[in-house]
Amino acid sequence: MKFDIITIFPNIFSGFLSESLLSKAIKKKIITIKTHYLRDWTEDRHQTVDGKPYGGGPGLVFKIEPIYKAVKSIQKKAASAKASASRGKSKVILFSPRGKKFTNELAKKWSKLDQLILICGRYEGVDERVAEYIADEVVSMGDYVLNGGEVAAMAVIEAVSRQLPNFMHDADSAVKDDHASYTKPEIFYPEQRRGVEPKKGVSWKVPKVLLSGDHKKIEEWRAKSSGVSKVK
Ligand code: 6GU
Repeated sequence: MKFDIITIFPNIFSGFLSESLLSKAIKKKIITIKTHYLRDWTEDRHQTVDGKPYGGGPGLVFKIEPIYKAVKSIQKKAASAKASASRGKSKVILFSPRGKKFTNELAKKWSKLDQLILICGRYEGVDERVAEYIADEVVSMGDYVLNGGEVAAMAVIEAVSRQLPNFMHDADSAVKDDHASYTKPEIFYPEQRRGVEPKKGVSWKVPKVLLSGDHKKIEEWRAKSSGVSKVK
């Protein structure tokens, strides 16, 4: 699976990609991630990527030309890398707070592709023709506004990568972590300090059923606790 990220802030991704499961997946060649600096596809001396919105208003809007050139260049490279008969399955994604909500279902679908080209917009906007003519899908992370698509791109990379065979340590972990979990200690005393008696009655306990060894009951309890439930 290859992720191509088009961004004006490629450095945002370096820490994210050099840690933990993601860096291991990159080393093992389960995923390939390349950032593309949008300004590399400008022609003018100032490497202009944005302009004033038609019709007036505040802020600047990303221009279509550099994005078009970046996407075309990435697609051309991918096509020439493959035998033309077996052209890989690829999608172009635009991040925008106005897009449809990104879900685990989408992550699963996209994990079957060979390539995702991720266009990181900015919150003031991207020339609408990018959504209309260049992107296959426009997605949002939720009902709030981010400065740009970079954090959204990281979320998509993690969610999609988790669905790939061999990405997780054990296959089970790929399923949504959707029930409440506990580990030692069995009883936690929040006031506990060396030499200080725990306050009477203040103890946070693991639900008894989980210590019972009754697997049927445990499964039932977990099913009940699944979903977003009352996680604050
Ligand atoms: Cl994908 N982009 C921006 N700029 N803001 C967002 C978002 C995306 N998803 C939620 N808020």
